[in-house]
Amino acid sequence: MREKIALLLRPGLKSRATYGRPCPGLQEKGFLKSRMGRPSVARDFNPGRSRGSSVGSWAFLLPNWIGGHSALHPHGVQAAHIEDLWWLMFWVCSAVFVAVMVALGVAITRRPRESGPPGAIPPERHARMSRVVAGAVGVTVLVLFVLLFASVSTGRAIESLRTSKAITVKLTGHQWWWEVEYKDPVPEHIVQTANEIHIPAGQPVRVELASADVIHSFWVPSLHGKRDLIPGHSSEIWIQADRPGVYRGFCAELCGHQHAHMGLLVIADPPARYAAWYAGQLQTPPPPTNALLQRGRQVVESAPCAVCHNIQGTQASGKLGPDLTHIASRRTIAAATLPNTPGNLGGWIVDPQTIKPGNQMPANSLASEDLQAVLAYLESLK
Ligand code: CUA
Repeated sequence: MREKIALLLRPGLKSRATYGRPCPGLQEKGFLKSRMGRPSVARDFNPGRSRGSSVGSWAFLLPNWIGGHSALHPHGVQAAHIEDLWWLMFWVCSAVFVAVMVALGVAITRRPRESGPPGAIPPERHARMSRVVAGAVGVTVLVLFVLLFASVSTGRAIESLRTSKAITVKLTGHQWWWEVEYKDPVPEHIVQTANEIHIPAGQPVRVELASADVIHSFWVPSLHGKRDLIPGHSSEIWIQADRPGVYRGFCAELCGHQHAHMGLLVIADPPARYAAWYAGQLQTPPPPTNALLQRGRQVVESAPCAVCHNIQGTQASGKLGPDLTHIASRRTIAAATLPNTPGNLGGWIVDPQTIKPGNQMPANSLASEDLQAVLAYLESLK
């Protein structure tokens, strides 16, 4: 039955591309026309989305976050505990609702007794009603205690992941992107990235949470519940993915104009692949090997890019925006708003305010050749 309900709640893979649009700036510049077009949507990164659907035509009524990144499809031990609690509450509340509706129906349809004066209740009936009310109060208290006990034990279970040898990731919320720093006592071993967290599958990971501006909330439904990122206050959450996969995360606290475009990906790799990814992130990108890449790097270092973004080994050392040292290794840009393709990246550089109005990245009217060089250079930053 539980599986049937889960199937029923799964959407029909028909969610509309809410943030995919051609890049107007690039069309004006006649750049990469053949490579542009409508970008694919975030469901491309959601492994669970490809599973079959039993819903069909009314799936559009469901919010498009139900699916691969759903609290009802846990891929981590903590999300599984939360799902168990969710189903317990669902069935208990459903039973209570049915019981109340049945009692209401009986009360409405029952014929009033005609013996005795109006409003008078015979003593034996009064005693029976008292017993019924007392019984209902007793059942209510019992049900509330069962839910309280289940809730407390779920809270204890999801807090029990701690281990002294876990990887620590510091996650800082910005309007509207996620700064990611892998902590390490050795400064040379610290990795900086953005909007994507790689973790080793099957291992607990400690995520330290902070905010640079307003309150945000970190939520990866398939792995855990929500935890707020509060300015001036650090908190932490422990996550674990039971198996490799890509899990969509969100900001779950209204934090301004582009709150809905503040996504992130948690990518759980097999431990060996995670180690290889980490080693790659520690590398400083090699110097450009041809004239096009050299020109791209020059433009990045001289244009406003360098003021806000950091690229290891170059003069770009800004800290206001995401670190771009290995941007080509990331799957998305603009906080999981667009897939990381040359067309989308070009559109973002030229006209970020159309894609994500109100974000802090200004428009950049680069000459077509400079834009191509910048894109080639950024594409080389694996
Ligand atoms: Cu950050 Cu909503």
